[in-house]
Amino acid sequence: MNIAVFVSGRGSNLQAILDAEYLKGIINVTAIFSDKKECRAFNIAEKHRIPAFTIGKGASEIDYEEAARLLEEQKVELIVLAGYLKLLPVFFVEKFIGKIINIHPALLPKFGGKGMYGMNVHKAVFNSHSEVSGPTVHFVDTSYDTGRIIAQKEIDITSASSPEEVAEIVLKEEHKLLPFVIWKFALGEIKINDNQIIIEK
Ligand code: GRF
Repeated sequence: MNIAVFVSGRGSNLQAILDAEYLKGIINVTAIFSDKKECRAFNIAEKHRIPAFTIGKGASEIDYEEAARLLEEQKVELIVLAGYLKLLPVFFVEKFIGKIINIHPALLPKFGGKGMYGMNVHKAVFNSHSEVSGPTVHFVDTSYDTGRIIAQKEIDITSASSPEEVAEIVLKEEHKLLPFVIWKFALGEIKINDNQIIIEK
């Protein structure tokens, strides 16, 4: 299954996808997209000889229409947002509805929505004195973090003494959950019915 990954920064989730042994031969990352001209995730893409594109208005950049055409040409079946901070345009979400997933570093629907990204999320979780946190993988719709939840992993964070420690605990779990959901998607084992999403064993 061909997948594309949208990134905005470090690319550790992209690295986790590329490192997942059980995904080798199952998926093929055919393109990386970012709103940034430069980011560490692009260095990862270069090392793996994966074409990388910046979405923007600059000379060497492409717009969402061109990105959509490329994704269709590459027969991409799953678009993974891994730290992508921009809201996708409505036409794009509708064109690929049911094929775009996002990983959020908290247990949605709590601690999500506009402005809730990166350390903002972990600060809010830490300051709320929650005893648990963890990653959520969800389908993407036309607003921040509101798409249907596919999978979550709840982790005890009572040992964390700062938002940074919460971030570290959650990120480790993100690197397991996201490849797992991609794997299940590739196997066709994510079933969507009216009131729930089931991941078949
Ligand atoms: C992750 O924490 C993810 O949950 C959030 O953005 C971060 C991306 O980190 N959406 P990385 O670029 O994958 O390291």
